[in-house]
Amino acid sequence: MDSGRMRFDTRAIHAGGKGAHPEHALNPPIFMTSTFSFDNTDKVDAVMSFESDDYVYTRGNNPTLRLFEERMASLEGGAGAVAFASGMAAISSVLFSLLRPGDNVIAHRTLYGSTHGVLTKLLPDYGIQGRIADLEKLDELASLTDERTRVIYFESPSNPNLSIIDIRCVCAFAKSRGIKVIIDNTFATPYFQRPLELGADVVVHSATKYLCGHGDVVAGVAVAKDPDYVNSLKFDYMCEFGGALSPFNAWLLLRGMKTLGLRMRAHEANAMATARHLQGHPKLSAVYYPGLNDFPGHALAASQMSGFGAIVSFEVKGGLEAAKRVVNGMRLFKLAVSLGDCETLVQLPAAMTHRGYDHERLRDFGLTESMIRISLGLEDVEDILEELDYILAKA
Ligand SMILES: Cc1ncc(COP(=O)(O)O)c(C=O)c1O
Repeated sequence: MDSGRMRFDTRAIHAGGKGAHPEHALNPPIFMTSTFSFDNTDKVDAVMSFESDDYVYTRGNNPTLRLFEERMASLEGGAGAVAFASGMAAISSVLFSLLRPGDNVIAHRTLYGSTHGVLTKLLPDYGIQGRIADLEKLDELASLTDERTRVIYFESPSNPNLSIIDIRCVCAFAKSRGIKVIIDNTFATPYFQRPLELGADVVVHSATKYLCGHGDVVAGVAVAKDPDYVNSLKFDYMCEFGGALSPFNAWLLLRGMKTLGLRMRAHEANAMATARHLQGHPKLSAVYYPGLNDFPGHALAASQMSGFGAIVSFEVKGGLEAAKRVVNGMRLFKLAVSLGDCETLVQLPAAMTHRGYDHERLRDFGLTESMIRISLGLEDVEDILEELDYILAKA
């Protein structure tokens, strides 16, 4: 069957793979090789001048990496994808590929902490301004944009307070001004949201999370609509900066991605049950989950996502001390950064993933020191709800 006609769950298992299944192996071997040999110098010329797509060196390409990239391009609806050694390698390489000294990038105020760090601390050293805005307010975006704005960057839902940004509107605004839009789709995954179809130019992922799904890989990927841009990102940036993914990790990602849809449906069901259980709980002052009807971004999320994901954040009454008692009292859940694994992972963003943010600004962004973020795993929902009752009793 032509992969263009396959549905999502089928493509997650079958898309891509010319030459990646020697000997009719059901599962592709891991091509653990650093380099590839040539029959003669004519072959060298053909490959080096891109007339042939044979392989040269694993930092540039490798059959296991290519299969992962083709599968990701299919799932996100892009022209191609570039695999990276981590989500941050993907994010920083994409930003450097699109920005030059004197340019500025406008980014949403709540982002994964290291991304915020790259935008506000690292890029300025290269003469590139990272402008922070509330992208839920389009007038704020318009007032910060000028003729040197080259990129708009955001996550939707955002980490950790799950802001929902209007992807169609931001992309239409950007397109009319020749600005590129980069969206971190880690929380939603292409199973629930496909930003390229909504107008974005580049999608980036921490593939460490749901794409892998089993907590045993650090990886990243960028997917784009323009094949020339994909080629440039791969050979002018990934290959030269050198943040190449290991073929072994690409193989683990391919294995994990076969069950992406199945896992996302189960993760989301646990998240919905958790959010409903927490809503109105006497020990909590706020619950953040886009699937709740009274969540401010609920209607927008429903219009651009086919599901609401599996991250729930909440505030316990009693501040930081109460929040610490909750996370220190866990028996089943793990206190850990990262997300998207089979295990339910809980963390305090202000003390962990978002520690690098200026804490006063973090509070202005609606993110207190006592906010708790849960990445719902795949455990039995009754065990999850029982653990929630147990830990909240300590608040
Ligand atoms: C939304 C988001 N983007 C990017 C990253 C960075 O990815 P990595 O840790 O794979 O470099 C993370 C990591 O937690 C994240 O949560």
